[in-house]
Amino acid sequence: MSTYQMPDSASKAEYVRKNFDLISKKYDLFNDLNSFFLHRVWKNEIIKQIKKKISKEDVTCLDLCCGTGDIAFRVAQLPKVTKVYGIDFSDKMLSIAKERKKTNHKIDFQIGDATHLENFTNEFFDVVTIGFGLRNVSDIHKTLREIYRVLKKGGMFLNLDVGKVKNPLIRVFANFYFFKIVPLIGYLLWGGKNEMFNYLPESSLYYPNQEELKQILEQHGFQEVSYKNFVFGNAVLHIALKT
Ligand SMILES: C[S@@+](CC[C@H](N)C(=O)[O-])C[C@H]1O[C@@H](n2cnc3c(N)ncnc32)[C@H](O)[C@@H]1O
Repeated sequence: MSTYQMPDSASKAEYVRKNFDLISKKYDLFNDLNSFFLHRVWKNEIIKQIKKKISKEDVTCLDLCCGTGDIAFRVAQLPKVTKVYGIDFSDKMLSIAKERKKTNHKIDFQIGDATHLENFTNEFFDVVTIGFGLRNVSDIHKTLREIYRVLKKGGMFLNLDVGKVKNPLIRVFANFYFFKIVPLIGYLLWGGKNEMFNYLPESSLYYPNQEELKQILEQHGFQEVSYKNFVFGNAVLHIALKT
């Protein structure tokens, strides 16, 4: 039994922001190691899906909870994409994204809160993406309302995050890996116990499963909602349209 105590909803945002600031320097390495580099394949799938569904020219994108910019950089490589905004509330994660950006004029990284996109008018974006962020926001519904608001009609929302493994036997192994090995990788990389590596698996327990999230997206008005599981459902990409 874990003695770890999740932050309550009032303190979650500050807890998450502060801890991502703390782990920012080795965040990318941690991601590669704990996913056996597979997070790169899952992020590439976001790009494939955008290519498949968005045929217009001059595409404007928003990558929410962009962290060090992995998804924003991939999206910016699409020739039809002219502008990508990357938004995150962790100053330190964003600094790494800005360092990686160099002279890429298509991308604009800004400090901001995914639950309150005050800098963007209604129907501004053709595509909104989030990678491993929705699980971390303090209010999923507020975030989805904002995403729906800033998306144009015909726009696309893609959400990559952890999923729930259905097969009970595989779930035992997956949980062992996620709850025991992933924190260990974190402790080894950062040279000691760090509660962020308990938060990461524990937060998945409070996050909707694949079907529940599909229904939540539909309740928020999204249409043609589908999802693609990776590695038996350990990770999942939801794809939704605003029609
Ligand atoms: C697990 S990282 C994901 C980073 C990146 N999207 C990726 O896939 O590698 C989650 C990021 O979400 C950010 N975040 C969490 N809640 C947020 C919020 N309400 N507004 C903006 N950023 C937030 C954190 O600061 C962190 O950088």
